[in-house]
Amino acid sequence: MSNSNDRVNFGSRIGAILASAGSAVGLGNIWRFPYETGNHGGAAFILLYLVCILVMGLPIMIAEFSIGRHSRANTAGSYKALAPKSAWQGIGYMGVLAGFLILSFYSVVAGWTLEYTWQAVANNLTDKTPDEFATLFTTFSQDPWRPMLWMVVFMIMTHVIIIMGVKKGIEQSSKIMMPMLFVLILVLVGCSLSLPDAEKGLTFLFKPDFSKLNPDVFLGAMGQAFFSLSLGLGCLSTYASYFGKDTNLGKTAASVAVIDTMVAIMAGVIIFPAAFSVGISPDAGPSLLFITLPNVFQMAFADMPLLAYVLSIMFYILLALAAFTSTISMHEVVTAFVNEEWKVPRKRAAVYVTLGCITLGVLASLSFGPLNDFKILGLSIFDFLDSLTSKVMLPLGGMLISIFTGWKLEQRIVWDEISNGGKLKVPLFKLYVFILKYVAPIAIGLIFVNELGLF
Ligand code: TRP
Repeated sequence: MSNSNDRVNFGSRIGAILASAGSAVGLGNIWRFPYETGNHGGAAFILLYLVCILVMGLPIMIAEFSIGRHSRANTAGSYKALAPKSAWQGIGYMGVLAGFLILSFYSVVAGWTLEYTWQAVANNLTDKTPDEFATLFTTFSQDPWRPMLWMVVFMIMTHVIIIMGVKKGIEQSSKIMMPMLFVLILVLVGCSLSLPDAEKGLTFLFKPDFSKLNPDVFLGAMGQAFFSLSLGLGCLSTYASYFGKDTNLGKTAASVAVIDTMVAIMAGVIIFPAAFSVGISPDAGPSLLFITLPNVFQMAFADMPLLAYVLSIMFYILLALAAFTSTISMHEVVTAFVNEEWKVPRKRAAVYVTLGCITLGVLASLSFGPLNDFKILGLSIFDFLDSLTSKVMLPLGGMLISIFTGWKLEQRIVWDEISNGGKLKVPLFKLYVFILKYVAPIAIGLIFVNELGLF
């Protein structure tokens, strides 16, 4: 594989898919998707989410891939290269900022997964009532120190992989973790479906009640689609800058979208039957996964405590690993930017990013406890960071990426990237450009306008 400059490449095509899927699959699917679905009333939200994946997610992912692989640069550098001295570079800067902000609150939840791994190993997640599991989570998340320390541990782990470099660190770890996670999720789906009130959960998930649709549901579904697919901030474009020349961008994007969506839906199929079976309200918010899941193991394996013990440890480890491949990808966006644009050596760039994220992460972590009363626009620091990024910055970034690729970027470049210089047949190319030019930007714009109540 030849390089147009001295940047490293992923070693194989499957490596490119797995690294991108590793970025996409994470807490967004397993933690955020179920609770957003719960908050927004279930199946109707999921339907909108799927539409967003198709008309915005997939096309914009291919656009990010094209931009990244063509320019072979970090996200800000890529717009500099493709549209020198233009305002389009703003997409890159906004993306880097969004990556930094998301990593800061995301690492808090990633830290929670370490606490739960620890609790599972210490055998504290057995022999408890649903209420006791809820108390366990509340006590932990409100504590000023424990969640903060786990967050710092998680950031340091991410830091280590980032300084080990793209190929050894990112690709290898994704290759092993992703398939394992997939298998364990399948096992848990089976467990959850065997619970007494599984049917109620499935009804909630799959039988749409359109009376529940309102502007917030639209915005929530769009935000979730961008968040889950790692889109809108140049994360996948940064990864694509490490793709080889023969990577099929369309196929890779489709694989990533399918894997990501399947994991999210399966997470829903694990959480809701369990939540309904033990009487946890589906709109419990960020705590939903952590107060529901321990019940699944306990109830499904009531007669086999050892199996429950082993599987729960495995699950929390894999959840932490799924979060890990995602934090790595966000860290990489910001580190590659600081390294290449500010000309700071890579290792030192990584230190700045880690320290910055830990600082903001501390505030996000404390917002569940001591800082709970501190509100920005009525939201806690954590919720504010989440909403600002997923519901404003990512869709806005996606809209601009779509417009940039559809209108500004030379069509020949787009064609070259998608067809690998004419080697691949791309029957839907015209449709693709049409979606980028009109469908995706207008759809995103309408959802924004709708949310502002202007209809
Ligand atoms: N998609 C990841 C998840 O679902 C989170 C993530 C990683 C992300 N990189 C991103 C979200 C870039 C938005 C943009 O857990």
